[in-house]
Amino acid sequence: MTDPHLWWYASRASAIVAWSLLTLTTLWGILLATRVLRVADNPAWLRIVHAHLSTIALVMTLIHVGSLLLDPYMRSQGFGIPAALVPYASTFKPLALTLGIVALYLMIAVALSASAMRFLPRRLWKGLHYASYLVVALVAVHAGMAGTDRGSTWYVSLSTALIVAAAIAAIVRRIVGSVAAQRRRAAAKARRVTLRTPTPMRVSELRALTDDVRGIRLVSLEPGPLPPWTPGSHITLHLPNDLERRYSLCGDPADRHGYEIAVQLEPDSAGGSRYIHETLRIGQVLPVDPPRNNLPLEPAPDYLFIAGGIGITPILAMIGSLPPSRNWELLYLGRSRRTMAFAAMLEERYPGRVTIHARDEHPDRMPAAHIAALSTAQVYACGPNALLDEMVEAVPADRLHIERFVALDRASGLDPKPVQVDLAGVGTFRVAADRSILDVLEEAGAPIAGSCREGVCGACQLRVLDGTPLHLDSVHADADKDAAGVMYPCVSRSVSDRLVVDIVD
Ligand code: FES
Repeated sequence: MTDPHLWWYASRASAIVAWSLLTLTTLWGILLATRVLRVADNPAWLRIVHAHLSTIALVMTLIHVGSLLLDPYMRSQGFGIPAALVPYASTFKPLALTLGIVALYLMIAVALSASAMRFLPRRLWKGLHYASYLVVALVAVHAGMAGTDRGSTWYVSLSTALIVAAAIAAIVRRIVGSVAAQRRRAAAKARRVTLRTPTPMRVSELRALTDDVRGIRLVSLEPGPLPPWTPGSHITLHLPNDLERRYSLCGDPADRHGYEIAVQLEPDSAGGSRYIHETLRIGQVLPVDPPRNNLPLEPAPDYLFIAGGIGITPILAMIGSLPPSRNWELLYLGRSRRTMAFAAMLEERYPGRVTIHARDEHPDRMPAAHIAALSTAQVYACGPNALLDEMVEAVPADRLHIERFVALDRASGLDPKPVQVDLAGVGTFRVAADRSILDVLEEAGAPIAGSCREGVCGACQLRVLDGTPLHLDSVHADADKDAAGVMYPCVSRSVSDRLVVDIVD
């Protein structure tokens, strides 16, 4: 015969497991957010563990509710579905049950928002995610008021351990958060100076990588390490012919004494690549803006890299940063091997992972976009706009990461309208239809600096606090910008009449 206490045992066990996992996943999330756990290279599995712990905690909570509904004693107290789902519908310990019900709804909201993270405004997602702290607190009070084991020693010990762990986590979060805020303020202050003051750097090496590609190493004039950078970053060179040109860093991020770039001579060069190929000399000093990353390598289990021509440069640094155990594949497309600066080196260093497609060897076009669409990996692509347009067409936005170096024309045919812009801590500005938001903010003395002014470099990035921007830039995918809550005011405008923005640290 079935033990009459079966569902009571099940409800107690599932409640304890759910509470423990909830505390553990909250701690795990805090360690992730504060980067304590992110010392390992590119740890996608850390996020996966966090997500799985949260899901199991939610499932155990649902089992807890289900077993209470089946427990004969609870049924005798009038505990049915309305009492399990509606706050204060139960006559049995109404306050305790209400706290548990609210915690359950919040857990579901956090889980749904985590699944839909890429589609939600970052502030909304973050706000919902922070509700996890409230869930931990509600569960602790609910367990203290309703738990039938609360008088026993083991229960008191375990619940004390869980409450202390959650309290320590909250304190750690608070301390690390305020230290990070101080750092952000200091960084914003430093940014005002560095954004407007390029650093003079000396050309220490010039190498012909192919007939049309020149490798360049730039070193600091000052002793000490250069500003750090991450794979995907670029620097902006201020050339003596008054041109500014952006080039991806393709060396080793651990090398803090020099920046390495590779520059292709463009047949229809407006003067930038031609100057670098024909005039630039070893020993020459150029002003250089600090590294900026519009194409950061996000943690993922698998990667598919697609490079067209000189678009290989940011990808070189990315694959160099991945540990040997990571799954990745590279499709490297070009006119001929003679023009593909790094083809031989890549094939030799990464056998079996690199596919070279030189057009003069394979008359058939490689269906790179089709391959990317069929893959389940995160796709990182850099190259000519035609290649990137195909990627955008074929690959879902949540798997595609691209960087363009030539601006798209997204504004023609649009009828711009005036907008009110509130820049946090600076003031409110009316931007006329024929002015750029960046120009108006710069004139007002805002600590923001444009570079390309055509929506490619990412230098003018602002954080969007309220309102809906109309993205007209080519920096990266609009979905990524909305997910990150940023905009580029040199070319972008607003759908809403008012935008509230802040400087990005
Ligand atoms: S200044 Fe380059 S994106 Fe705005």
